[in-house]
Amino acid sequence: MQIFRELSGLDRLSASWCADDEQFSLVPTMGAIHEGHVALVVEGKRHTARVAATIFVNPMQFNDKADLERYPRSEEADLAKLEAAGCDAVWLPSVEEIYPAGFATMVSVRGVSDRWEGEYRPGHFDGVGTVVAKLLISALPNFAIFGEKDWQQLAVIRQLERDLNIGVDIVGFPTVRDPDGLAMSSRNSLLSDGERGQAVALPEALNEARAAIEAGEHILVSTLLAVARAKLVEAGFTKVDYLALVDAATLEPLDHAHGDMRLIAAATIGSTRLIDNIRVEMDTVSR
Ligand code: PAF
Repeated sequence: MQIFRELSGLDRLSASWCADDEQFSLVPTMGAIHEGHVALVVEGKRHTARVAATIFVNPMQFNDKADLERYPRSEEADLAKLEAAGCDAVWLPSVEEIYPAGFATMVSVRGVSDRWEGEYRPGHFDGVGTVVAKLLISALPNFAIFGEKDWQQLAVIRQLERDLNIGVDIVGFPTVRDPDGLAMSSRNSLLSDGERGQAVALPEALNEARAAIEAGEHILVSTLLAVARAKLVEAGFTKVDYLALVDAATLEPLDHAHGDMRLIAAATIGSTRLIDNIRVEMDTVSR
């Protein structure tokens, strides 16, 4: 596995893959590699013979400085996991490489980024949009693979790729979960044992609400969501930023079940904020 920190390394590598007519997939990450990331590399390998990953903890997407400081970092272990997953190359740019002195451009996606994470983490999606645009334009992979756990982020990235004609196929990969259902996330390592036990209430609440909606229960969606919220608080979550039924593509809230839907949630346990989402199947909705 090739490892480089400078953009020129990536340029040379993608030029040599190009010359050999080899396509490649890119898996952008912020490190703290877990099985969810490994699955993205494996998915990349399904699309192309070559897969490159990036590890860059992007300061621009952290609206809270303390959150950036406590973000888990484990470079050596990350590289070992990526290599074991079959990754061919890893680019670990420095902050100066991505944002050199005088950097003044912001990629801001309107509409799909306005609500939810956009509301609770002001500036977050400008940071994501800017870094993802920079990574994609720098590497110009054939495919870029992102996890569905960050459902709204995926919608933002699809929009920016389309709007800017970057020419990269954006692939979303289903959330990888621990056996008890908790979505894998780098932030899970910040949970105490007790909090980790309580955190499972998040996927449970989403699944219960989904089952009720899919069963066409004759109570309002808003009532179901209030029940799910109450379940989180009862389980020990101290703050529920949102728990909503939304249109899967536009992220607009829905007050009744129709079309392609997603249940999305963000809630804090201890000092760790977790997000999750699940699909709600229209064809099993009976009303
Ligand atoms: O999902 C992440 O890990 C990050 O938001 C991403 C897409 C790598 C951009 O920094």
